[in-house]
This record gives sequence, C-alpha cells and structure tokens, in this order.
Amino acid sequence: MRFTVAIDGPAAAGKGTISRAVAAHFRFAHLDTGLLYRAVGARVAEGAEPVAAARGLEMSDLERGDLRSAEAGQAASRVAALPEVRAALVEFQRRFARREGGAVLDGRDIGTVICPEAEVKLFVTASDEERARRRWLELAAKGSGQSEAEILQDLRERDRRDREREAAPLRPAPDALLLDTTKLTIDAAVNKAIEAIGLRQAQGRE
Ligand code: CDP
Repeated sequence: MRFTVAIDGPAAAGKGTISRAVAAHFRFAHLDTGLLYRAVGARVAEGAEPVAAARGLEMSDLERGDLRSAEAGQAASRVAALPEVRAALVEFQRRFARREGGAVLDGRDIGTVICPEAEVKLFVTASDEERARRRWLELAAKGSGQSEAEILQDLRERDRRDREREAAPLRPAPDALLLDTTKLTIDAAVNKAIEAIGLRQAQGRE
C-alpha cells in the first residue's frame, strides 16, 4: 500500500506534532523535511559549500542535537532558497513518500512540489502570536533563554523568506485542506487531520 500525506505550513504552526501523531495513528513512516534543510544549514555554518552539503547529506546528519535552535532555523531558510540545494534533496523525499506502508512528510513544498500527487494535503497555520508562544514553550523547555518577542521576530523573518523566494515558495497547494490551529487543542487538530486521512483512505477502498 502506498499512501502519502503532505503537511505544509509556516514555522511552528503545529506540523511536526500533527505529523508525528498521524504517523503513529496510521502506522505510516514520518519524515520531517525541515531537518534536511536544518542539517544542510548547520554544515554550511561550519564552512561547507551549500550544494555539496546537500548532495552529501547522510541520515546521521539528521540526528545532530543542535538542529532545533533558532540559528539552525535561520541557516536552514537561507540554504532552502537555493534551487540547487532543493534539487539535491528532491529524490530522497520522493522515494520516502512512495515507500510501502504509507508516509507522512511535513515541510513547506510537499504538496506543491515534492508530492503534488499526495493522497492527502494539509496546510497548517496559526496566528503569528500563537506560533511564537508555542515555539517559546518548546524552546524554554530545552533551557533556551530566548524571549517570546525575539522568537516572533525570528518566525516572521523566516516566513517572509520562505514565502517570497522563487524556488518552491511556501504556499498551499490548490487542493490542500486548510487547518487553522490557532484556537484548537493539539488533540482537536490531530483529530481533524486523522478524520481527513481516514475519509480519503475509505474513498480509495471504494
Ligand atoms: O519547525 P519549523 O516549522 O520552525 O521549521 P522547519 O520545518 O524545521 O524548517 C526550517 C526551514 O527549512 C524553513 O524555514 C524553510 O526555509 C526550510 N524548509 C523548506 O524550505 N522546505 C521544506 N520542505 C522544509 C523546510
């Protein structure tokens, strides 16, 4: 069985949480594609050339402990604007998406560029302030001293870069289901995603 769920949206909108929960529910494999760009960004920060870093990326690079920081996010969004970096990462993501047993990929361009044929596409959003609050909670739990205001500024800057770039800009696929999680609990957002996927699976069986 091949079944792809594409989950896109701006920074800290809840894509990761929803993707992990959906993958666990349906026993699908999950790929956080942001980690690919974060890992390339981290290698570039250490002096590597961006395209070479993307071509040479290995699974072990995704396990680095420093990829979740705001600096790694900014470095990611800078290398993510380079078409050759994106091109180097396409095949890996497409292979993952079509693996046997189902896959969930979350990112910025999964429904538009990587998997335009995905069985289900979700575009997850939340207000800027709510996203900053969530990312602040996440980072504070890890001991980061960044203020909510700094995080808000960081998210907005990254979103702007992601939306305005020429290569695979952040935007919903025309047939994506929009999921605004501003006023939803995690469980409610996850349930909506599970419902949409379950419905599509049932249609496939008809
Ligand atoms: O977790 P968060 O939503 O803050 O970010 P992320 O998903 O880890 O992505 C980090 C950065 O990588 C984004 O700001 C994008 O610039 C880039 N990215 C991308 O261009 N395409 C993707 N499919 C995933 C991430």
